[in-house]
Order: sequence, then C-alpha cells, then structure tokens
Amino acid sequence: KRIAVLVSGNGSNLERLIELSVSGFIDGEISLVISSNEKAFALERAKRHSIPSHVVHYGGRSGGDYSDAILQIVEDCRIDLIVLAGFLKILSGNIIERFRNRIINLHPSLIPSFCGKGMYGEKVHRAVIESGVRITGATVHFVDGGTDTGPIILQESVPVFCDDSVESLSGRVAQVEHRLLPKAVSLFCENRLTVMGKRVLITGGFY
Ligand code: GRF
Repeated sequence: KRIAVLVSGNGSNLERLIELSVSGFIDGEISLVISSNEKAFALERAKRHSIPSHVVHYGGRSGGDYSDAILQIVEDCRIDLIVLAGFLKILSGNIIERFRNRIINLHPSLIPSFCGKGMYGEKVHRAVIESGVRITGATVHFVDGGTDTGPIILQESVPVFCDDSVESLSGRVAQVEHRLLPKAVSLFCENRLTVMGKRVLITGGFY
C-alpha cells in the first residue's frame, strides 16, 4: 500500500510510521509527506528518509479548494491511504468522498471527550488537566468530514496524575500514540478493518 502522511509540526508520529514501514511491521510504504506549514520539522524528517514532500499552504483558500489541492497531489502519487499525524487543517468535500474510510486521523484524547473545533495539540491536554478527569488517552479514527467524528479504529487510555503539567501529560500520551497509530495503519494495510456504520470491525485475529 502507498501511504501519504499529512503533517503540520514536529512529525514524531511520521518518524514512527517511517521506521515501522521500513522494518516491515507496516505492510506499506510512506510514499509522500504533505505539510500545511513550510517550517514543520516533519519535512526535515521526510528529507532525511528521501520521501517526496509537498507544502500546501492554507493561505486564504476555502476549505474545499485546499482539500482539492491535496486530493490532486495524492491521486497523482497513486496513494491508497492518507494518515493525518498532527495535521492541523480540516479536510472536506471531494477528498472525503474519494478517500472514504481511507483517511486515518490521530487525536490525543478519548473521543468524544476533548475534541472538536479548536481542540488540538496542547489545548487538549490543558483542557484535560483543568477538567479534573483521571483518565485520558489517544484515539485513531477514520475521517468523515466532521472534526474528530469518524468511526473509531483504536483507543488506549492514559492516566492523568494530579501533578501533571501539559508537558508531562502530552509526553505520556505521545508514547501511546506512537504505538497506536502504527497499529491502526498496519491493520489497514492488511485489509483487517471493516466499517459498519459508526463502528469498525477488526477481522482476522484478536482485538
Ligand atoms: C500529536 O499529539 C497528535 O495527537 C496531534 O498532534 C501531535 C502530532 O505530533 N494530532 P507530531 O507532529 O506527530 O510529533
């Protein structure tokens, strides 16, 4: 399978996906990286691994035009799966139809808690700490054109400690993300994910 990873920042999840596709854990190739931000360190990571990359600026376009620009690039590269790893834009319109149940997003909370418009990155962990909940986690889900609303593939919980800071909590969640996202991508590449309405069935083994 040919995989495109969309990024906006550091790219630690991209790094894990590259490592695990090279090692064969993921039966697929990271064929393309697209960033919404030309300063994203994730672009440096792509370069180091000789993975072609593009910057698609959001600047002033409508959401639909922006998504269509990305759709054009991924279709030209014969991409099978799009992975959003710290990608800070919302995809909409044609790409959602063309890539139905073939766009996977990673979110740093247990959806449907602490998600939706404006809830991304550190803001999620700050809201978690301020809310006083004792459990948070990470979610990997298919993208359906809403914000963090598509069928959930995998989730894993992470404890919140009373002396947690945004840094300590985001670091603990990141460790789970770096295992969860590759696992979901690997299941997709092995054709073991079937979407039934809002639910995802994992076939061919235990889960
Ligand atoms: C992760 O925390 C992820 O949950 C969120 O953005 C961050 C991406 O980190 N969507 P990185 O750019 O992969 O290091």
